Amino acid sequence: MNGGALVLHGGSVQTRSNDTEFRFRPDSDFYYLTGLVEPGAVFVFRPGHDPESTLFVRPRDAEAEVWSGRRKGPQGVVDEGRAEQAFDVAQLKQELPRLLEGASTVYIPLGRARSVERSVLSAVQLLRRRNRDGQRAPESLTHVEALLGPERLVKDEAAIEDLRRAVEISSLAHMDAMRFCRPDRFEYEIEAIMDCRFRMAGSTGPGYTSIVGGGDNATILHYVENSSRLQGGDLLLIDAGCEWEQFTGDITRTFPVNGTFSGAQRELYQLVLAANVAAIEQCRVGASINGIHRDCVARLAQGLLDLGLLQGSLDEIIENKQYRRYYMHRTSHWLGADVHDVGPYTVDQVDVPLAPGHALTIEPGLYVAAGDTEAPAAFRGIGIRIEDDVLVREDGPEVLSHAVPKAIDELEAIVGSADAITFG
Ligand code: GLY
Ligand code: MN
Ligand code: MN
Repeated sequence: MNGGALVLHGGSVQTRSNDTEFRFRPDSDFYYLTGLVEPGAVFVFRPGHDPESTLFVRPRDAEAEVWSGRRKGPQGVVDEGRAEQAFDVAQLKQELPRLLEGASTVYIPLGRARSVERSVLSAVQLLRRRNRDGQRAPESLTHVEALLGPERLVKDEAAIEDLRRAVEISSLAHMDAMRFCRPDRFEYEIEAIMDCRFRMAGSTGPGYTSIVGGGDNATILHYVENSSRLQGGDLLLIDAGCEWEQFTGDITRTFPVNGTFSGAQRELYQLVLAANVAAIEQCRVGASINGIHRDCVARLAQGLLDLGLLQGSLDEIIENKQYRRYYMHRTSHWLGADVHDVGPYTVDQVDVPLAPGHALTIEPGLYVAAGDTEAPAAFRGIGIRIEDDVLVREDGPEVLSHAVPKAIDELEAIVGSADAITFG
């Protein structure tokens, strides 16, 4: 940190409506460094100082705790080893100048926690005024992502275990959904089965809002209403993953509601599957997310030409981005505590090379809008995405989501194979 200090906010309870609230989830950076789940807390880290770590938390308050839950209080978080010293959060303004004095820069989550920004700016201003007494104010603020992005990008063994568990439970839920699926069920019933699996396994629930889209709902990338009745003859696209210790799975599968692919569905599916398999194979040390995406685009574009969905030369289609009519998102993102995890994709305009401990998704898809009258009729209203979670290892890619079927024959065998799902 080159003599810098770091100030993070633990996150706030968010209002759902009037006076009811969402379940609290801590800020990912804050949790990464402290392991503490405590709304309104502030963490200050100053390597090389004594003490290095300070937490500000709500004080114990018997009456408030009856209404809104237990608190650890300053002594409690020190006893747990979350920081070397702790104060009542009401003392933040008073203590912060002393903690930031002489720091070269202050790393903060710029734009993400206004109250912390204001506290830091006030402390910096005060230190500038006290310069007459020899105190030194930090000279810059730096986005914490510059520090923790590259750090969180490389998963250590503990993080890998948590991510593995998140993907494992997510995988079970996808298989439940496949077994339970049949015509006339509603999308929300499938979602409910998955939610049940997540919670019964001890997860806090989905790491992002589940997408359960039958038929042409699958062509809406962020479809989350999940309210339609499933029709035999349609495909169902499910993009869902659960959270485990703040890490989330992010898996998509697409399969026929009645267990049998039609000819056009099969052709499009095979194309996406081949792109998925080829891209996973490329998740090797030294490759890059942009390079994998370029190759994936070329494969999908060639397939779209072969199927008559696009016309012209491959080079033109890629150059003019015509493939974007059917493939409008990217192939990969970093995966971790945030589903679209932090971590740079390029540094000084050079692609970040994949390295051991990087986790990313591979998620090619093709989406033909129902109203796309230029597309051959058989393909209209079909949306397909196949998304796996991949860990880069020294000796090649490890597909964390390997257990979830994606070959056509495997899908046709599993879909609709259970009348009820039991949760043990
Ligand atoms: N579920 C969000 C994504 O696949 O990126
Ligand atoms: Mn996804
Ligand atoms: Mn994804």
